[in-house]
Amino acid sequence: MKCRRCGEVAQVALPSHHTGFCPTCFLDFFRAQVARAIRRHRMFGPDERVLVAVSGGKDSLALLHVLGELGYQVEAVHIDLGIPDSSAPVRAFVEEFCRARGQVLHVVETAKDGLAIPDVKRAVRRPICSVCGKIKRHWFNRFAFEHGFAAMATGHNLDDEAARLFANTLRWDGAYLGGQGPTLPGEGLFVRKVKPLCRLTEFETAAYCFFSGITHWHAPCPYSGGASFTSHKRLLADLEHTSPGTKTAFYENFLKNGRPAFAATAKSGYGELQACAECGFPSSGEVCGVCRVRRMTAGAGQA
Ligand code: AMP
Ligand code: FES
Ligand code: ZN
Repeated sequence: MKCRRCGEVAQVALPSHHTGFCPTCFLDFFRAQVARAIRRHRMFGPDERVLVAVSGGKDSLALLHVLGELGYQVEAVHIDLGIPDSSAPVRAFVEEFCRARGQVLHVVETAKDGLAIPDVKRAVRRPICSVCGKIKRHWFNRFAFEHGFAAMATGHNLDDEAARLFANTLRWDGAYLGGQGPTLPGEGLFVRKVKPLCRLTEFETAAYCFFSGITHWHAPCPYSGGASFTSHKRLLADLEHTSPGTKTAFYENFLKNGRPAFAATAKSGYGELQACAECGFPSSGEVCGVCRVRRMTAGAGQA
């Protein structure tokens, strides 16, 4: 196969785009897809400061790198979850990645907020991954707000977005279907949330890392049970295999046709929230979910 743009030998086949690229043209294609997502979904402009959540995995490292290449004002934040034998080496890896590139990196240690994940795991009865996700989202937003960032970017890609949409659709969850998308506008204490890799698959992100010389952290979280590929992702991968382009069409047509149809049922969210009595951030009750988890964790520690 030849590269669609320059006619050299193609090294990446992209069946969903009915094409293939050589490494140089693939990198151009990748950057163009990110730039288009940022423009089309009004994520941020060149004068705005963007905080990128960097886990050390391929998606967030690719995101940090590509936004730098596109000339945006980015700073990185890493959440150190305090998991023995796991968090320290990932953090050191992210610190070295940023140091080598002269990239500003902030680190938030959840242990300093009374939320070391092993302690939380002992204290709560719910699956730790969902509680941990809540704590991370709280800190992404809180850090971005307290440091005056215009937007908060995560490395979610097309596979993540399509799988989430699939799950919401299976439940016909109107509240989420009306609100899901690559840009969640900011309001009050909520900073705008954006997903600039929403047009790119996991495979494309991995190829971008490979051709850009980015090595990333591979080890899964010890609490995840190694299940990084959900059943929904597997189903979508099968559909994509037999009918290339399915994932993109499912997601992009949802944004165009599906989401507006659910506008009336969208979670109005922000309006009905009050300030958490402990941290001051928006909450549906007197004390927010994260502060309740902190209380439970402290209680379990004393027991
Ligand atoms: P995940 O839910 O693990 O697939 O992660 C989704 C996105 O959240 C990643 O692409 C990162 O942008 C962000 N993220 C996850 N874990 C962390 C972390 N420990 N520190 C900073 N960002 C993270
Ligand atoms: Fe949060 Fe594993 S429990 S990353
Ligand atoms: Zn709170």
